[in-house]
Amino acid sequence: MSKRFLRATGMAHQIVRDRVERGDTVVDATLGGGADLVFLSGCVGADGKVVGFDVQTEAVERSRARLGEEYHGVELHALGHERMAEFVDGEVAAVMFNLGYLPGGDKSVITRAETTLAALEVATGLLRPGGVVTVVCYPGHAGGDDEAEAVSDWAAKLPQEQFGVVRYGFMNQRNAPPFLIAIERRA
Ligand SMILES: C[S@@+](CC[C@H](N)C(=O)[O-])C[C@H]1O[C@@H](n2cnc3c(N)ncnc32)[C@H](O)[C@@H]1O
Repeated sequence: MSKRFLRATGMAHQIVRDRVERGDTVVDATLGGGADLVFLSGCVGADGKVVGFDVQTEAVERSRARLGEEYHGVELHALGHERMAEFVDGEVAAVMFNLGYLPGGDKSVITRAETTLAALEVATGLLRPGGVVTVVCYPGHAGGDDEAEAVSDWAAKLPQEQFGVVRYGFMNQRNAPPFLIAIERRA
């Protein structure tokens, strides 16, 4: 079978898998359908902790159902990720953001630049050295373009002594494809 480049979401998983160990604490900042939650729970194992957020109760319930029996060390909040600092103690190994709307849900409920940037400030402050924040941005829907630009501008200004920042995404796809911004804490 011929190989293909990973999509932005797949690359986010690859980066997080490389940095997270069993027993770590991690955050899913946008639970949605629960795919990232299941992935993170598998990375940290039974001794680890995953704290998850989504403003929609439907997303929290879908995520909980998708996790099924693997519901150990998982704490889910039907709240905005901008309140992350109230629920996460100490340093974390990874925080994943997958922006936009809940697939198959209410497309009018989308992540917004103002709250996303507030949450990103908190998330980068919680990282342990070597820890990562991943942000999958969706410039292809109304509102998503402004948010993707705001996140890119914010990330590009992070001081390089403290953070490494990369961007990954297809350059030749139609309809403004998603892209990934990944941030590692250096010092
Ligand atoms: C693209 S989905 C996430 C997909 C999910 N990570 C997965 O693996 O299926 C984006 C989610 O962000 C949620 N959201 C919107 N504003 C939010 C906020 N301020 N805090 C947390 N979640 C938010 C939406 O309700 C939606 O479910």
